[in-house]
Amino acid sequence: MTTVRITINGHVYGPQEVRDDLSMNSFLREYLGLTGTKFGCGVGQCLSCAIIVDDPDGTSSTSPTCIVPAVNFNGKSIRTIEGHARNGALSDLQKAFVDHFAFQCGYCTAGFLAEGQVFLENLARNKVPRAKLESAIAEALDGHLCRCTGYIKYHQAVRDVVLANPGLYLV
Ligand code: FES
Ligand code: FES
Repeated sequence: MTTVRITINGHVYGPQEVRDDLSMNSFLREYLGLTGTKFGCGVGQCLSCAIIVDDPDGTSSTSPTCIVPAVNFNGKSIRTIEGHARNGALSDLQKAFVDHFAFQCGYCTAGFLAEGQVFLENLARNKVPRAKLESAIAEALDGHLCRCTGYIKYHQAVRDVVLANPGLYLV
């Protein structure tokens, strides 16, 4: 057993004692009731379970949760899908997902949202030319599987957020 303390969506959870083999996915869903993070393949292949990790240097990245123990996140700051809306207002990317009807069953959506949000945050730091935007989106979202095959609308939604604010994201 290990005692963990993890900042999730701005709130500190813990100290909480957890089994060393408890997955982060189970910690979020079963200990904390944060069931927006889904469990898909369970073997690190679909990324429906992805969450955002915020590093101290201000950068962000995604991580699967199904194959990563909760103890690996001890002391870290993460965001789950429950943390994207602010004061009841959806994020720009969430709104774009809705506007595009980007999801069907929705099982993959939290993972795509996490990856798309990290992509936007990285893009704001490292802008790309318009001509490279499509390939940059495709590369960023690659690895996320949608069993309903809704890839194009996810890509369109991310693109719309970028094009709505080109000065922030494009050179
Ligand atoms: S459920 Fe984690 S990668 Fe598929
Ligand atoms: S919307 Fe159903 S798995 Fe992607």
